Amino acid sequence: MIKLIGISGSLRKASFNKSLLNAAIPLAPEGVTFTTGTIEGIPLYNADVEKEGVPAPVQLLKDQIAAADGVILFTPEYNNSIPGVFKNAIDWVSSSMTGAPNVFAGRAFALAGTSPNIFGTVLSQNAWLPVLRTLGADLWSGKRLMLPKAGSLFDKDGSLVDEDAKARLKAFVEAFAAYVARKTA
Ligand code: FNR
Repeated sequence: MIKLIGISGSLRKASFNKSLLNAAIPLAPEGVTFTTGTIEGIPLYNADVEKEGVPAPVQLLKDQIAAADGVILFTPEYNNSIPGVFKNAIDWVSSSMTGAPNVFAGRAFALAGTSPNIFGTVLSQNAWLPVLRTLGADLWSGKRLMLPKAGSLFDKDGSLVDEDAKARLKAFVEAFAAYVARKTA
């Protein structure tokens, strides 16, 4: 059984990226479990805090990533880059001071995202590239999922209702799952 997780980089309840992740979960093909990881509750990174021990929400995210064969980052875009809360969470998990092994190294990662503008997080996704490279992640670039005009893709309850976006999301999840399956075979 292949294990995938998706992590939304937004904390807000009505986040488009959280909704996109929620829409992706049931699209996992047979033989794949797809669950969510979370950045909720992660404090601002501070090496002094880390010296006292790894905060529980950081350890949780680290464990979630370590248990996954593949990880999809659902990234919003702020100021043409990665939102601070998301980068902060990944910085925490990546810190070697925690003593545990690098959970990114060699693990399959994919990037997806949606934003209200017409570019659909392309610059945020680009900004993740050097981060994932630095961490030694195995970045899958088989497909791109950058969904623009997020405001028109979801209903008021956050369900993905745009048929084209649904089809693209499904193709994306299936192709990433197939990549991870080949890699772990
Ligand atoms: C944004 N937003 C935004 N969108 C975008 O496509 N490019 C950008 O550079 C920015 N910059 C930006 C900066 C700041 C400070 C905020 C708060 C917002 C809009 C952003 O995409 C929008 O708020 C999304 O709804 C955020 O994602 P979630 O929370 O809906 O997942």
